[in-house]
Amino acid sequence: MFSCLEELHQALKNCRLCPLAATRTNVVCGSGCHEAPLFLLGEAPGGDEDLSGKPFTGRSGKELDEFLKILEISREDIYIGNTVKCRPTRPSVRGRYGNYANRKPFSSEIKACFDWLEEEIKIIKPKVIVTLGGVPLSRIMGKQVKVGDFRGRKFFSELYGCYVFPLYHPAAVIYDRSKREVYLSDLIELRRALKEEFV
Ligand code: URA
Repeated sequence: MFSCLEELHQALKNCRLCPLAATRTNVVCGSGCHEAPLFLLGEAPGGDEDLSGKPFTGRSGKELDEFLKILEISREDIYIGNTVKCRPTRPSVRGRYGNYANRKPFSSEIKACFDWLEEEIKIIKPKVIVTLGGVPLSRIMGKQVKVGDFRGRKFFSELYGCYVFPLYHPAAVIYDRSKREVYLSDLIELRRALKEEFV
């Protein structure tokens, strides 16, 4: 449907397919290398991303930079995008950005964003999609799954014609320290696979 990412992003910026269009500051389009072998797929933008219009900025950007350091790759080498392109919010009196806090996307929002991600993957044609957390993994697998059952090893997706490598979401590791060791060993396995298999 779209011949290039610029065209896709232009159309995406005008999307009004779900109610998040009314509360967003910016649609957060993917960023990075358009021919990247690695598509890093997050959940949805938070407050920082909503303001900047770029995925993984602010606090989550710092977490991502740590993550990329371990993988020995840079942002310019990969493509970074989200399952849902606008920030899901809930009312909160203690929000960092006004009276709203971040929340997980509803399944209706994930469905509304479905075609955008399909088109993005078709254009990038990655060798591997690295999913961060349960939302993107379930989206790619087309059913509700637990990251813990799939994390740390690749599988081939016939649908997308590429490998998928599931990881915990970096934020989940911060809140649950018991996941740290497995997360680190998963990253080390991904680093090995990136050097030996996804080149
Ligand atoms: N920021 C993003 O852009 N995506 C996430 O999944 C988390 C933070």
